[in-house]
Amino acid sequence: MGIRSMDWNEWIEMDSNFVRYHETKVKQLEKDIDAHVNYVDNDVTRLACFEVYEELTQYLTHRFPEMFSLKDGILRNSVTKEEFAYPAPTPKEAMSTSAKLIQDDIALMVLNDDGQYHLDAGAVCLPGFWRLKEKFRMSLDTLHIEAGVPHYQEKLMKSMNRFFARMTPDKPVIRNNFFIQLDDGLHWSHRMGDEKNVDQVASWATANSRDLTIEDIHFRSERQSLRRLPKSGALMFTIRTYFEPITTIAQEPHVPGRLAEAIRAWDGTVSHYKGRSHWEGIMLPYLDEMHKKQVASGALDTEEGEFPF
Ligand code: HEM
Repeated sequence: MGIRSMDWNEWIEMDSNFVRYHETKVKQLEKDIDAHVNYVDNDVTRLACFEVYEELTQYLTHRFPEMFSLKDGILRNSVTKEEFAYPAPTPKEAMSTSAKLIQDDIALMVLNDDGQYHLDAGAVCLPGFWRLKEKFRMSLDTLHIEAGVPHYQEKLMKSMNRFFARMTPDKPVIRNNFFIQLDDGLHWSHRMGDEKNVDQVASWATANSRDLTIEDIHFRSERQSLRRLPKSGALMFTIRTYFEPITTIAQEPHVPGRLAEAIRAWDGTVSHYKGRSHWEGIMLPYLDEMHKKQVASGALDTEEGEFPF
């Protein structure tokens, strides 16, 4: 599953891109809040939405006290100068406010009568190429099977379901992934599909890689955390996207070589899922070239860091 245990200090990360992410989120929420924030109207899911906001407020005011403060029922963000009612008046506001506090997207998985965890609430503003509406209420298995996640049924399904069932509030986990994106859309990848055509699910089958240049290609890496909320018992999944032009990350020592190596190790199923045929012709020669330059310049004599691949 590629998961590891999470230190509480690293649950929510903030960086210098906060304002850009925040402005993008606010714009999306103002444009169409229902497309980005939703919840199933039952007791446990309502409670879970309020709990997300409570947990984040607790965490952020302690972890980032210069940025977030809570006084007299008002949560303040000193960077954006926003003020939010605390507690929130409705589950929807709890979720949309939560979305504005952090750079991450949020999904809540709630146990349903069929014994499966379902995506029963979310605040999803920066997904890249899927819409909350398309996945809303889906079970963990359906979510992954419909997205065509490689080897899900034979390798992941059983262990993931068992893991979800047994998770306790004191043992959060994280995992990282990465995708290659054909454009610079943080909120939506326009080369994957028409955002306005809401009936069309965006995928590599609808992708347009015509006249692609190396400058278009972006590296999208998600840092995902998963924890059980103590009151509602729902599972809170956060998706923190790191998004950079490939030409930027390829400047880092070791990255071009390691990334090209990881891509070349993919089997056919993974290559298909990651849309390799759309970008490999441009990206792999570029990475090889950059790697050669790093070898020649002695840049690889430095110690290797950690990469999400
Ligand atoms: C232990 C937890 C989880 C594991 C191990 C896992 C595993 C995976 C893997 C291997 C993929 C393929 C891409 C990648 O490497 O990320 C994937 C994709 C996906 N997962 Fe999960 N997943 C987990 C939890 C969740 C949860 C809670 C959701 C609920 C929203 C979710 C929604 C998705 C979606 C929508 C995709 C498809 C993305 C796309 O290709 O469009 N996953 N997952």
